[in-house]
Amino acid sequence: MCGIIGYIGERQAQPILLNCMARLEYRGYDSSGLAMASGNIEVYKDSVRVNELAKRLPKIEGTAGIGHTRWATHGEPSQANAHPHCDCTGNIALVHNGVIHNFRKLREQLTAEGHNFTSETDTEVIPHLIEKYYQGNLEKAVEAALLEIEGSYALVVLRADEPKLVVARRDSPLIIGLGDRENFVASDVPAILDYTNRVIYLEDGEIAVVTKDDIQVRQNGRKLVKKEHQVSWSIEDAQKGGYQHFMLKEIHEQPKVIRDTLGDYISMVEPIVNFSALSSAPLEDMLFIACGTSYHAALVGKYIIEELVKIPARGELASEFNYFQQPSARTGVVAITQSGETADTLSAMKRLKGAGKKVIVISNVVSSSASRIADQTIYVRAGPEISVAATKSFTAQLMALYWLALSYSNVDISRLDSLVTELRQLPHKVQQILDNEEAIAKCAEYLSKYDNVFFIGRGISFPVALEGALKLKEVSYIHAEGYAAGELKHGPFALLGVNTPVIAIAPQDDTYKSMFTNIKEIKARKSPLIALAEEGNETIGEMADLVITVPKTEPIFSPVANVVALQLLAYYTAKQRGCPIDMPRNLAKSVTVE
Ligand code: G6P
Repeated sequence: MCGIIGYIGERQAQPILLNCMARLEYRGYDSSGLAMASGNIEVYKDSVRVNELAKRLPKIEGTAGIGHTRWATHGEPSQANAHPHCDCTGNIALVHNGVIHNFRKLREQLTAEGHNFTSETDTEVIPHLIEKYYQGNLEKAVEAALLEIEGSYALVVLRADEPKLVVARRDSPLIIGLGDRENFVASDVPAILDYTNRVIYLEDGEIAVVTKDDIQVRQNGRKLVKKEHQVSWSIEDAQKGGYQHFMLKEIHEQPKVIRDTLGDYISMVEPIVNFSALSSAPLEDMLFIACGTSYHAALVGKYIIEELVKIPARGELASEFNYFQQPSARTGVVAITQSGETADTLSAMKRLKGAGKKVIVISNVVSSSASRIADQTIYVRAGPEISVAATKSFTAQLMALYWLALSYSNVDISRLDSLVTELRQLPHKVQQILDNEEAIAKCAEYLSKYDNVFFIGRGISFPVALEGALKLKEVSYIHAEGYAAGELKHGPFALLGVNTPVIAIAPQDDTYKSMFTNIKEIKARKSPLIALAEEGNETIGEMADLVITVPKTEPIFSPVANVVALQLLAYYTAKQRGCPIDMPRNLAKSVTVE
């Protein structure tokens, strides 16, 4: 989720690159850097924001250059890991957005062939591959290098002695901005809106050679004629990628987040966590600790571990954990935190560490405080999450939990195979829900008129109900409670009636029969009922006032589809009520006090 930029023209490139890089910084980057072709390649980069980098730079003459704002994935934020990255000769510089899944293998091969690496990044293999294949034509060398790469990329390459930018994309956005005797390359339209609103969108598999007067786009060696588009966004809108709110943008990013996170784990040579290195005896049980939305991921984690690893597991609130007994030496402990900075989670981790326990953390932020405390970090690839209400980080955390459980599962090979196949289908299924958002927005219109709402679920859908209620209350300010469906009759029944809608999460797993009975009980008390049901469920419509249909999945993966539908429901309800969705009152993205 980095930002990339390229410029070639007649003006001095340095101020243009810095301005474009600053335009990309709304995502919250941790490092920045640029390279300019001025006879040779000059690179300046560090783990600082763009304005700090700008202060440190000398004036560099040159009319072609590339820039990058980094959100650390492979390797902590540091000068060495910041982009651009160069080959051994220092003549080739490159900026990259994406994940190279086979970088370990490539790095080993290239090292054996005499290449020296200076960073921990996956990206650095690319300039070295280009160097290896370079025989006087940069475009051909890039083409040859890309044939060896598995993974996603948007990249721009610059060579000291060739007046051009070579750009390519696969599964990561890239645009070319058209100017007058100058051209731009960017990962995102907002980066270049100060200079032009005429753009060409590169598609997967396309490679372009950009000079100041010309753009040549090719795919598999064939020259393509690309359509020019006029962008009508304002700068402010465009920073949200055209979405009205970051929350909606982040909800929509989930197919990619799932693909990136899983792709990363699938490519790992080592297991995701080496429990045997962390505990001398085999694990007897597992404990997850977390806060907020991450706590709900922890609760889903309990069901995932119990189903796939067949050991007991539990999720606990980090803020309550200090009042509990320490877990046994044979308990595997995993903290979950998007930011890696939540004070209650850090405090629980420190207490565990103080008692000699090994702690693993699942986090979205490289080099966060949590990963410094933990013995091992499992990173998720959600990218920067700006909206206070967590959405894509939750889905990414679930991917980490599924992969963790599968790595320790004893399921037979054919079941394992079918689970992995199903996991790989999830981006597509989530996209189906996103494509159905108009129907969900209609339900939201209906829901927005009420002041109190219950969300109910059973089994693995119970934490989904908790998360659905949390999303709704934090962004729409409607009082919402998540409940285990079987518990409604032990109190909340007193509140049911025409003014209290209930949202029932009803996948057709082995909880469905009991859930259907609960739905009937609710309807008998005249509460409006919205059901989240799988496609093909013909009967639920007879009981529910509204049905949100989600794609069918393996029962253990149903939280992914259901949560995305509930995120959209919360978003559109809040929008209907005119709430400040990205920054709800009194809430903060990262809570650094206990
Ligand atoms: C805050 C945020 C929530 C988040 C919680 C835990 O309350 O508003 O969205 O779920 O912190 O954050 P963490 O970074 O530890 O996952």
